[in-house]
Amino acid sequence: MRIDIITVLPELLKSPLSYSIIKRARDKSLAEIVIHDLRRYGKGKYRQVDDYSFGGDAGMVLMIEPVCRLMEELKKERPYDEIIYTSPDGVPFNQKEANRISCLKNIIILCGHYKGVDQRIRDHLITKEISIGDYVLSGGELAAAVITDAVVRLLPGALNDETSALTDSFQDDLLAPPVYTRPSEFMGWKVPDVLLSGNPEKIRQWQEEKSLDRTERLRPDLLHNTDNG
Ligand code: ADE
Repeated sequence: MRIDIITVLPELLKSPLSYSIIKRARDKSLAEIVIHDLRRYGKGKYRQVDDYSFGGDAGMVLMIEPVCRLMEELKKERPYDEIIYTSPDGVPFNQKEANRISCLKNIIILCGHYKGVDQRIRDHLITKEISIGDYVLSGGELAAAVITDAVVRLLPGALNDETSALTDSFQDDLLAPPVYTRPSEFMGWKVPDVLLSGNPEKIRQWQEEKSLDRTERLRPDLLHNTDNG
């Protein structure tokens, strides 16, 4: 899978996409992630990429020309399955959407910008608008990193058996069960006996029960959800 990320703050994205599972997926060429500095496509001596909004509302708006020029260049090289824009007014991101995107071959993510982008970008160039939650970030870069992380870790081969995506929270609309490691007792706090029993069937049953308990207690909405699987 190839992910092209368009941003005015490339440095902000480099670190979150350079460690752990994402690094391994990139090293194994499962994911090619290319971060593009939009300013390289900016206008004039100062490489301008944003301007005041028509109508006088305060705040700078990302201009269509540099975005369009960069996207056209990318589209000449390969077809894109989805062109995503990160914005708090997009469709809420969830595991189902991460699963869907992980099956695509080439995507572009355009990071949102302060006051937003020229609406014509959204109307004519973007195929999907995504929000990572009901709060406002300073820009779309962290949202792009979240989406990329959630997608890339699902690519076949990115996770080893130990960290298999199948046992993740949300993958089957349930939160993951609690996990423990050594020591089996610490300051009188004990690991549940069943996990030390060596009986795989009993352990599986216990994990299922705990998953269900946790979901009922913390996220009952997931149990009645038809759109999050
Ligand atoms: N940009 C700013 N806030 C955002 C959010 N919640 N989701 C996606 N992009 C954003």
